[in-house]
Amino acid sequence: MTKIFGEGPNQVKALDDVSFSVEKGEFVIVVGSSGSGKSTLLNMIGLLDRPTKGKVFIDGIDTTKLNDGKISAFRNKKLGFIFQFSNLLNDLTVLENVLLPRQIGGTNGSAKKDALELLQAVGLEDQINKRTNKISGGQAQRAAIARGLVNRPSIVLADEPTGNLDSVTSMKIVQLMKTMAKKLNQTFIVVTHDRKDFSDVDRIITIIDGRAFEGEQPTELEMVA
Ligand SMILES: Nc1ncnc2c1ncn2[C@@H]1O[C@H](COP(=O)(O)OP(=O)(O)OP(=O)(O)O)[C@@H](O)[C@H]1O
Ligand SMILES: [Mg+2]
Repeated sequence: MTKIFGEGPNQVKALDDVSFSVEKGEFVIVVGSSGSGKSTLLNMIGLLDRPTKGKVFIDGIDTTKLNDGKISAFRNKKLGFIFQFSNLLNDLTVLENVLLPRQIGGTNGSAKKDALELLQAVGLEDQINKRTNKISGGQAQRAAIARGLVNRPSIVLADEPTGNLDSVTSMKIVQLMKTMAKKLNQTFIVVTHDRKDFSDVDRIITIIDGRAFEGEQPTELEMVA
């Protein structure tokens, strides 16, 4: 899959012939330097933008064949998103925010029960009726994780989910994502600058200048005592 932005001399090849597949339940992190193409890759997988060339298959479905109308319903059903800034709506409570993806999808029979279970799993059971501007950054990211999981999506996508948190809170959020992934056999694809926060993961994909490589690439320069 290739993604080119702009035209002519201003053209940027943000992704260059990237191809890989991810199995159900895998916890994958995507690393690479600033501008290498990580967010572009996540936006392609998240169906927020379309590739210039190539295809993205989710659960065996060729998403390039979905028209713009169908794609948002598909995205809501199959994908969960966690962003760097939790992107919660401040006018709503924690519980209402977590319920949002379910209301859009129109399957709310067991929605509240599922949302409450997830909020308990992320340790927010005593915060559910608070507005989201009254909770901490770490709590907001916990709520965002619950929201990302509430539809039981095929894939949860996270772009720098700990980028806005201190290192202790980051570690807790990473641990929480990993625990939830195991518990629910949930596929995660997480973009991060801080590979070390993640310790053991199923898989690492390194992006260098728009190209994807399996595993961690050796650092060019390292100094040790
Ligand atoms: N909408 C856009 N229009 C034009 N160029 C873009 C657009 N989005 C990204 N790019 C370019 O594509 C390349 C990859 O950008 P991308 O945002 O994917 O990098 P990144 O790895 O996520 O970086 P960071 O770690 O800083 O978030 C960069 O050269 C960037 O300038
Ligand atoms: Mg980025």
